[in-house]
Amino acid sequence: MKTQDVELGERSYPIYAGKALLTDPSLYARHLSGRNVLVVTDSNVAPLYLQALIESLGNHNVSQVVLQAGEEFKTLDAVSTVYDELMAQKFDRSSTIIALGGGVTGDIAGFAAASFQRGIQFLQVPTTLLAQVDSSVGGKTGVNHPRGKNMIGAFHQPTAVIADIDTLQTLPAREYSAGLAEVTKYGLINQPAFFDWLSDNLESLLQLDPDTVAEAVLSCCRFKAEIVAADERESGQRALLNLGHTFGHAIENAVGYGVWLHGEAVAAGICLAARFSALSGFMPHAQVTTIEKLLHRANLPIHPPAEMTAAQFLELMSRDKKVRDQVLTLVLMRGIGKAFLTSSYDREALHQMLAEQPAKAAT
Ligand code: NAD
Ligand code: GLY
Repeated sequence: MKTQDVELGERSYPIYAGKALLTDPSLYARHLSGRNVLVVTDSNVAPLYLQALIESLGNHNVSQVVLQAGEEFKTLDAVSTVYDELMAQKFDRSSTIIALGGGVTGDIAGFAAASFQRGIQFLQVPTTLLAQVDSSVGGKTGVNHPRGKNMIGAFHQPTAVIADIDTLQTLPAREYSAGLAEVTKYGLINQPAFFDWLSDNLESLLQLDPDTVAEAVLSCCRFKAEIVAADERESGQRALLNLGHTFGHAIENAVGYGVWLHGEAVAAGICLAARFSALSGFMPHAQVTTIEKLLHRANLPIHPPAEMTAAQFLELMSRDKKVRDQVLTLVLMRGIGKAFLTSSYDREALHQMLAEQPAKAAT
């Protein structure tokens, strides 16, 4: 097991990553203060890991909520289901929620923890690659609105993240690839050496070689922890973590939540950000090809859905959380590992690029 701390003063917490952690009672004992524990999971993860986790909690008073799996169920109704169980069990402010599952479960359970009685503790036990490298770390919680991704939420840090890489063995290959989009993102933001490492080790990662997976998870958590520690509430540089997401969220919303996986939409979004960076003269065109090749090798789409129009993109992107006074800030790149934020770009050129996307959607 390896540990990476997220340094946030009194809200600091450890990320544990390694094998056989889900059933390690000492990790839960270390981070559960009150007696009451609500485990929130989803309908795919429950049959695989819920019982084993509960058996590792010792003699706590444990309750459970099993949510319907899927991005389309990342709604306020799901959060309400969690509140209902907390109320039914008369759980109080000393209670802890454990989020067992992917990013959807973590975001819902985290938001319930942020808002129930104005905030109770929660632990993240991520079981997808995407959640282990990204969503379980950093304290963003929330749900979707029919008109926009992650529009309702709160910052609420977990008390620990327990990332058991053994759980990735049961993850469907498509979901695993989706996680690789967020892994690639870190290389592109500010870790060019990691991008090269990823390119060299992608086959081992796709084969779930445990040492390679552990190294990838730990590295990504370290990169994210550094950014979050510097800008917890996204007043500046944390927005770099949204590379590819403004385009990606528009795709997820346009095709219907759950049709494209979040990571797939981010992959196509990263390619759009790269192409626009090159078109704007910020980045060499050859690097766009390098990025596309890597994402394609990871079995990810590199073009948006063929049916999406430029008007649809721009309308959905105008609701992005990086819009201020109707001006959208984009995350672009000056090269691999050199992402930056800008609101000075040619809007007409963006419109034209989105209108001219080739109809080559891979999903
Ligand atoms: P997910 O939670 O929907 O999980 C993907 C699928 O895999 C689900 O069907 C789930 O039931 C199943 N699953 C989970 N673990 C499994 C396992 N070990 N074995 C078999 N099946 C398993 O999706 P995700 O990709 O983990 O997360 C995507 C979500 O995360 C999106 O809603 C996105 O907006 C959010 N997100 C949040 C942050 C953040 O900072 N809070 C960051 C990135 C993404
Ligand atoms: N995934 C974006 C963030 O955590 O800030």
